[in-house]
Amino acid sequence: MKKVLVIGGSKGIGKAIIKNLQGSCELINISRSEPVEFLDKIQHFSCDVLADELPDLEQLDALIYCPGSINLKPLNRLTETDFKNDFEINVLGAVRVIQKYSKILKSGQDPSVVLFSSVAVKMGMPFHASIAVAKAGVEALVRTMGAEFAPHIRFNAIAPTITDTGLADKLLRNDIMKEKMRDRHPMKSYLQPDDVAEMVEFLVSEKSKRISGQIMELDCGIVSFKL
Ligand SMILES: NC(=O)c1ccc[n+]([C@@H]2O[C@H](COP(=O)([O-])OP(=O)(O)OC[C@H]3O[C@@H](n4cnc5c(N)ncnc54)[C@H](OP(=O)(O)O)[C@@H]3O)[C@@H](O)[C@H]2O)c1
Repeated sequence: MKKVLVIGGSKGIGKAIIKNLQGSCELINISRSEPVEFLDKIQHFSCDVLADELPDLEQLDALIYCPGSINLKPLNRLTETDFKNDFEINVLGAVRVIQKYSKILKSGQDPSVVLFSSVAVKMGMPFHASIAVAKAGVEALVRTMGAEFAPHIRFNAIAPTITDTGLADKLLRNDIMKEKMRDRHPMKSYLQPDDVAEMVEFLVSEKSKRISGQIMELDCGIVSFKL
């Protein structure tokens, strides 16, 4: 059984990843709050990845880093602190956990790291300056780490379009907004956390053992298609 560390399995996409992998993988979760479900089936450490010491682990085959942000403001309302905070949680937090666990990952079984980007990197959208540049950093990190650790550790990212989690609450806060959001996408749908969790399952499995340095766009057509 693969041993998988999820950073941010208490909520949203990370929670769906834990639900999806429990039973087929041995799971460790790190988040500030405890996941309310599956606690009996996983090992949990309450920890802020930006501030606390990360726990020592003995063996690891996969690392999935979920913390991120959606901080949408017009440029003249974005402060330098906004840019720094987005960079810190999206890029530096990931760097911190990779630095901590790369050594044990290297001796894992087909080790794989999955990070999260966003469609906002490839599609210019108003008010996305801060999050888009931070996620562009995540994509650059995936490619550089993929090269640096090849052939030992695979690095990939998923770039989802809007996904129905607490993080996206403000953008999906009523039925009209949900309907408009579905309509903006050529596939007439946005994502549910389970859709993303299935891509994570693929990226940590042997089925993707030749795939590294890639950004998997789960875009419901919004980046790829012009209808
Ligand atoms: N939802 C979307 O529409 C969407 C779209 C594009 C990209 N994404 C990206 O997809 C990823 C997952 O998004 P999501 O919607 O699932 O986010 P979410 O619902 O906010 O969940 C984030 C998870 O990370 C944990 N976390 C946050 N800060 C942390 C910290 N400092 N230390 C430890 N754990 C921390 C949270 O747990 P605690 O609060 O308990 O610490 C939570 O479990 C993010 O990188 C996001 O940018 C999301």
